Amino acid sequence: MADLLTRNRYFDTLASTPGLMWMGQNTNHIPTHPAVQQAMIASVEAGEYNAYAPPLGFEALRAAIVGDLGVPGAEALVTEGGVSALAMVCRARCRPGTTFVTTDPTWKWPCLFARQAGAEVIEIPIYGPETGYRLTPAALEAAVDGRTAIIYLVDPNNPLGICYTVDEIRAFAAIARECGALLVHDCTYRDFAEGHHPALLEAPDHAVVSLSFSKWLGLAGLRIGALVTPPALFAEFADQATSVLGASVVAQRAAMAGLAVKAEWMTTVRAIDNANKRRIGAAVAGIDGLSIPVWPSHGNFLVIETEGAGIRPEALVECFNRRGIMIRQGTYHTARFGDRFVKVSTSVPEAWAERFCTLLPELVAEARTLNDVPAQF
Ligand SMILES: Cc1ncc(COP(=O)(O)O)c(C=O)c1O
Repeated sequence: MADLLTRNRYFDTLASTPGLMWMGQNTNHIPTHPAVQQAMIASVEAGEYNAYAPPLGFEALRAAIVGDLGVPGAEALVTEGGVSALAMVCRARCRPGTTFVTTDPTWKWPCLFARQAGAEVIEIPIYGPETGYRLTPAALEAAVDGRTAIIYLVDPNNPLGICYTVDEIRAFAAIARECGALLVHDCTYRDFAEGHHPALLEAPDHAVVSLSFSKWLGLAGLRIGALVTPPALFAEFADQATSVLGASVVAQRAAMAGLAVKAEWMTTVRAIDNANKRRIGAAVAGIDGLSIPVWPSHGNFLVIETEGAGIRPEALVECFNRRGIMIRQGTYHTARFGDRFVKVSTSVPEAWAERFCTLLPELVAEARTLNDVPAQF
């Protein structure tokens, strides 16, 4: 209980810090597209939020999600964030005696949902140049068996930013089929990637895709995402939904407006994101002992290794926090490798990235001298 409250107060303090530069959660802080803002305002002004949305999502949005993902015939369920989609899938498939196989690092919350449902979580280490910071089909093959209920693949991987090729997705799909597992493809960051390939195209009857509007469209606080499934699996997962009264009406209007202007919007977002990555890359290269293990990152974030500079990630996070910039300690993602790195999000105004770069040399020096760091989450 004390931990829960400490954690909540940690985020409450961040949320109440005026002008905080959010560079730790891969959220998107580039000023909203006017069409998206207008859709939200129009929805609020019309009082649409007085009523519930349809339980599976507005039909126009469900169709737009499937169209955007390029998987004709699939079904989309609109959820309160990608996280709810993942919770639903874990509830449907995980139980005592099953395994939930993923990478390390991975996104940690689905591991929690799998454990809550009684499954054993198996994390395959991928952090290292030996495997190019990615899951190999051989490593996956060795980790699965007849007990495997779910293979959970975060692609692009958060925090590493690697993106799997068509051949790799095909190989993972074949392994899932052989062992009878569901391939859960978490595509939260796909819009920042080059050459991303949804697993539904390779496993049209035993894969699902989870999506988010938090990152590419900047709607994190509105809580909206989706689960896209083969038609034959849709009812199984939809039956596990807890948001049986539908997702936010205003968020769905924003999502629809966002999908309508997506090409234009993402051209802007990716130009800013890439420029920020280059700027941060150059700043990191100028400091002894810091390095970026995965370049380019296919996500809207970068992993920066701090080990060589002799500083603890938590110390650097605290130094930036004191200057009004939130970045993330590696241990949020992985106990095994978390002492090596911090993660910095790049879908932010260029002025934020510039400020990060300006402060970096002095805060690396300061972090070396910092011993007492309050708890971070
Ligand atoms: C890999 C991954 N999946 C899912 C999510 C959750 O997204 P949402 O905000 O849509 O719940 C996140 C958020 O950080 C994430 O990193």
